[in-house]
Amino acid sequence: MDNFCFACHDNNGVNNTTVRSITGGTATNPFNDTLKNSYDQVTRPGVIDVKTQFTTTNYSHHAVSGQKYTSSTPLFSASPNRFVSTFTPLGGSVSIRDTSTIHCGDCHTSGKWATSGGIGAHGSTNEYMLQTASGTDTTHTSTDYVCFKCHVGSIYNDLGGKTLGGTAAHITGGNGSDYTHTAGTTGLSARTNGDGHITGMTCSGCHNCGQTGWGGIHGGNASYTDGNNTSQQTRRFMPGMGNSKYIPGGWTSGTGATCYTLNNSSWSTCNQHPSGGKSVTRTPRAITY
Ligand code: HEC
Ligand code: HEC
Ligand code: HEC
Ligand code: HEC
Repeated sequence: MDNFCFACHDNNGVNNTTVRSITGGTATNPFNDTLKNSYDQVTRPGVIDVKTQFTTTNYSHHAVSGQKYTSSTPLFSASPNRFVSTFTPLGGSVSIRDTSTIHCGDCHTSGKWATSGGIGAHGSTNEYMLQTASGTDTTHTSTDYVCFKCHVGSIYNDLGGKTLGGTAAHITGGNGSDYTHTAGTTGLSARTNGDGHITGMTCSGCHNCGQTGWGGIHGGNASYTDGNNTSQQTRRFMPGMGNSKYIPGGWTSGTGATCYTLNNSSWSTCNQHPSGGKSVTRTPRAITY
């Protein structure tokens, strides 16, 4: 199914002229429409090149086109396991872990929700055609993001200052304003309101592979300048739409990382730690393993 989706969501868009036989259809705008949805209402420049985002040599990538890691020690074998032990991804034989490969249909509502034959690509109740944590097609809330199908909700819901239960914090040093959920609202200004950002999902405030861009949670291979004016690579899907100058401090130890936010009103208005940033602690982990 991934290859079917990549046929349009790649770097040459909809190359097949039969597919875009709609009058006025082009490779980047095959259906000759406004390329925007009803909730964020922001116009895309063209069909999103998802295939390039999943390139396995990228600094960050969810493991759709290939595995990201070759060992499951740091996250799956941690106590508690950072992955949901009851979830097995499509086509997999063991529960989700660092070494898993996953598919569009593990996160999006494609295919599964088609009412008759074939693979239905588009059409869903939830925003961005995403499933909820329990795999249903309803508008997500801050506690049932698709992320929690695989990443344990009680851990990743916890940003240190705003605990929603759980035995281990995702990061410590955060505060309530780091967890802003605006999904379900309409239009850019409603969604970027109060430290929120375009996608409305709190996670992409910090994880979007380089601050701005659609599908940044698929992967990315960019550079950015951190709050110390040092050039960094977009590892671990950092930085996000709000945490635009994230200081990783070496990436591998538990300490040394700093949340650094600057108002960028076209994608996020978060401006809680605009100078000096705020220290956070994280899971210590090698860059490759
Ligand atoms: C015939 C071409 C085509 C195919 C095949 C296709 N898409 Fe799309 N898709 C588009 C276009 C055009 C858009 C609008 C621009 C954009 O957001 O990339 C779009 C938008 C989307 C969106 C954004 C929806 C939103 O509300 O913002 C998602 C998610 C998506 N596609 C997922 C998929 C998945 C998953 C598959 C495979 C099951 C798939 N697409 C197959 C052309 C296609
Ligand atoms: C279908 C399972 C699945 C879902 C859903 C999922 N992830 Fe992941 N995620 C993984 C796996 C497996 C890894 C480790 C290997 C990799 O990077 O693909 C991972 C890794 C990560 C990492 C660490 C990246 C790194 O470079 O080590 C972050 C951050 C992350 N995911 C955030 C998210 C967010 C945010 C969401 C929701 C928008 C999400 N994930 C949804 C399976 C999933
Ligand atoms: C306030 C910022 C912030 C928000 C919001 C945030 N994260 Fe993170 N996340 C981080 C930081 C910082 C790291 C550590 C990155 C590094 O290794 O440098 C991290 C790491 C991760 C990792 C890698 C594994 C690990 O345990 O270190 C996963 C998975 C992850 N986050 C998932 C999520 C999910 C899911 C959400 C939404 C519910 C989310 N994050 C929201 C800041 C954030
Ligand atoms: C780990 C979960 C995950 C997987 C796997 C995944 N996506 Fe997504 N996708 C997301 C999330 C979350 C968003 C919404 C936020 C964003 O744009 O970053 C999204 C957004 C999109 C968008 C919309 C961008 C826009 O215009 O807003 C498209 C298109 C898309 N995905 C296509 C795909 C295709 C095609 C595949 C498989 C090849 C795929 N995705 C696999 C999580 C995933």
